[in-house]
Amino acid sequence: MTQSLTIPRPDDWHLHLRDGAMLKAVLPETARHFGRAIIMPNLVPPVVTAADAAAYKARIMAAMPEGADFTPLMTLYLTEETDPADVAVAASEGLVHAVKLYPAGATTNSASGVRDFDKVRPVFERMAEIGLPLCVHGEVTDSEVDIFDREAVFIDRVLDPIRRAVPELRVVMEHVTTSNAVDYVTSAEAGLGATITAHHLIINRNHILVGGIRPHYYCLPVAKRESHRLALVQAATSGDPRFFLGTDSAPHVDPAKECGCGCAGCFTATNAIPLMAEVFERAGALDKLDGFVSRHGAAFYRLPVSASTITLTRGDATTFPAKIESGDGPVTVFDPGFPVHWTVTG
Ligand code: DOR
Ligand code: ZN
Repeated sequence: MTQSLTIPRPDDWHLHLRDGAMLKAVLPETARHFGRAIIMPNLVPPVVTAADAAAYKARIMAAMPEGADFTPLMTLYLTEETDPADVAVAASEGLVHAVKLYPAGATTNSASGVRDFDKVRPVFERMAEIGLPLCVHGEVTDSEVDIFDREAVFIDRVLDPIRRAVPELRVVMEHVTTSNAVDYVTSAEAGLGATITAHHLIINRNHILVGGIRPHYYCLPVAKRESHRLALVQAATSGDPRFFLGTDSAPHVDPAKECGCGCAGCFTATNAIPLMAEVFERAGALDKLDGFVSRHGAAFYRLPVSASTITLTRGDATTFPAKIESGDGPVTVFDPGFPVHWTVTG
């Protein structure tokens, strides 16, 4: 049995760092194992313009732990008022690596998102010209669509029409949760990738709801039934370069999760990489781990694979802190519910 693995330093292609005291608390958790991350722009107010992204990047750099080997890759939050020229300048300066599409109301802090997709067509066309990826939160928000169907319906009603209208647009379907999304990505000819989170590879909807409601497993898109989780594990461990890790690590303080109307988000920055080693080992696919966590995303984003490495070591079952403390309050670390034998040792 493999006892030690050295792989290029992983990247997180979908991460929430927040701001202020929370940023200060969660940034070291990600910077410990990851070399780069695509930073989500859903602050309040959102990161909409190049100037907003530059200011947010400066706040991240100011919060960086001493000696960290970590680069934040900034994104812009797409609104119906987004100026295609501003996006193009931010991309040409190397400041911004993607634009994020939130359908209005789909998730945390998405109120400024897009209602009428035709209104943002000029932005899509400009992005297609310059090769800038669109990261998509792929859920419809219509109240009559069941929450477990919202991703599949989004593909048919929104994503496929956008991709047909702007075929050169490069798209990342973020945090895919269904076999429908896996099938859609694998059937695309080019220009379509998908991130998969650690938690969606580990939990299904029973974990959230059976035997009591577990708010720390609630995220959006919500975890689906087991057959979908198995499709995600198959996609992640297949070696297909269109799938890569985006943790969607999304910290909320415990009181905001453990209450009558809890926030969506699982906080996995602390243990995502050991969890991925465990998941890939269980799938008999440890040889595919470096592709999923360190290579495929870099290739999609047209960046070099990290030149530095990390080493994972297998040993006795390890434990992670149950919570980290932030100046805003405690944040619960995702509990996979099974023993994890891998630690990052170098
Ligand atoms: O669970 C989620 N939490 N999904 C999202 O799309 C947003 C995120 C957050 O910002 O908390
Ligand atoms: Zn997210």
